[in-house]
Amino acid sequence: MNLQDYIAQADEVERAGIDALQSATDPDALEAARIAVLGDRNGRVKALQEALRSIAKEDKPAAGKRFNEARQRLESLHAERKATLDGGRKVAGANEDRSLPAREQWHGAKHPVTLVIEEIEDIFRELGFTIAQGPEAETEWYNFGALNFPPNHPALDAHDTLYLEKGGVLRTHTSPVQVRTLQKYEPPIRVLIPGNVYRRDFFDASHAPMFAQIEGLCVDEGISFVDLKSTLNRFAERIFGASRTRFRPSFFPFTEPSAEMDVQCGICGGSGCPACKGTGWIEILGSGMVHPKVLEAAGIDSERYTGWAFGMGPGRIAISRSGIPDIRILYDSDVRFLEQIAE
Ligand code: PHE
Repeated sequence: MNLQDYIAQADEVERAGIDALQSATDPDALEAARIAVLGDRNGRVKALQEALRSIAKEDKPAAGKRFNEARQRLESLHAERKATLDGGRKVAGANEDRSLPAREQWHGAKHPVTLVIEEIEDIFRELGFTIAQGPEAETEWYNFGALNFPPNHPALDAHDTLYLEKGGVLRTHTSPVQVRTLQKYEPPIRVLIPGNVYRRDFFDASHAPMFAQIEGLCVDEGISFVDLKSTLNRFAERIFGASRTRFRPSFFPFTEPSAEMDVQCGICGGSGCPACKGTGWIEILGSGMVHPKVLEAAGIDSERYTGWAFGMGPGRIAISRSGIPDIRILYDSDVRFLEQIAE
């Protein structure tokens, strides 16, 4: 082959090779083009290299130079196309639009009632209380019998609940865990018992059939009503700021005497507003001295030991603090609302 023909052939191989490599639009097509153009066995560049042999000796340097140019051009074009097509495959699939703005990041947060429970736990932990828990599916004995509810007593009306097989109930309060704790540990006892409870209540602005409670129990020698009042006053001060409290006589079968504690409404300062139903006070817990029959039912010597207990609803506290108008908001999981309180 003479030099002119060789150079014409090299031009043609180069032009056709550029075409083939450039028209491949995905990595598989590019690989097919590479085999056809630059492949070691039947590639067109390989044939061009072989044709060098038939060139006269004095023309070889010029022919070889043209061959090298064509090969290098095609090899670097292939490398360039490969980088573009492989990179594209990694970053953007066929259905991705890389011009879309990034999605907003979502952060989980604690529920307003959980925040109140944790705050109450912190306050009582400082006072030497530990956390105890018990089952939500209780026996009638722990929920009622051991707590001195006589059968058919009117106090049971407020504690209607779901009855389970074999005398089980969904617990109506956390007080059965008082008995479980007293059976398990020797006094001195100071425990805080958070948990969910169930009652046959309509779901309305101030009631729910399932809600959180926190029980407190303190049993030791020489414990009196003074200890109860001072502990609860201290608690109210911590959680509501310097609020006034008042104790009203009340009744629970498992405490004697019994009292309800109200806290002066933090929203109106006691002058009366919708949050406190115009009374200036918010009812936050029931309490009293543990009834000797409860101590005895749990196997504790009621001549030697005395104690007090309280039970409160952290949901109520969350509501009165944040001025939430309807308790159902706490159950809705509506992010637009929860976001305003979440920490
Ligand atoms: N268990 C009572 C209730 O649910 C509250 C309470 C607890 C009262 C402990 C006195 C002592 O209503």
